[in-house]
Amino acid sequence: MKIAIVLHSQTGVTLQFANSLKARLASAGHDVSFTQLQTAIPIKGGSVRQKMDIAITNLPDVSGADLILLGGPVWAFGPSPVICEAIKLMNGLKGKRVLCFVTMGFPFKAWGGKAALRWMDRIAAEKGARVLPGSICRRGKLEADIKQETERVAALLLA
Ligand SMILES: Cc1cc2nc3c(=O)[nH]c(=O)nc-3n(C[C@H](O)[C@H](O)[C@H](O)COP(=O)(O)O)c2cc1C
Repeated sequence: MKIAIVLHSQTGVTLQFANSLKARLASAGHDVSFTQLQTAIPIKGGSVRQKMDIAITNLPDVSGADLILLGGPVWAFGPSPVICEAIKLMNGLKGKRVLCFVTMGFPFKAWGGKAALRWMDRIAAEKGARVLPGSICRRGKLEADIKQETERVAALLLA
């Protein structure tokens, strides 16, 4: 199976989770492509609820992928505006299985994580994706959450 992982990560936490997913899925024999989104002007904060000028310089073509994982940090009780911009611009989501994932600083998933996933799921669904239950890792329990969520996602995707 061809799997595309596309993520935004400012300080490396979501990148760590994405790398764990990549290693697990690749070890199961899948062809995993990996893109950490970059922007022309660094985006260090903000909210999807405000208008922002986000110029992504490396938006990948995911039209050849069977399955797409989309990730980013929680910002201001919502998703990363960078991954949301990428989802909006991305071609090739229609009819595909998509799973969103986030990392967050607060200890409770209800303090931004769940809302971020709902937002990302909604805009992926608007692009015609078949959205799977997403994943949240908290910085305070990062190692344990990454381990648990990596296995859950692998079981879900590779069943
Ligand atoms: C601008 C900004 C806003 C944030 N807002 C939240 C928030 O609402 N809830 C939360 O749990 N963490 C919040 N955080 C913490 C990040 O979600 C957390 O550190 C995340 O793991 C960073 O991921 P990254 O290293 O991939 O960028 C915020 C961080 C930044 C920089």
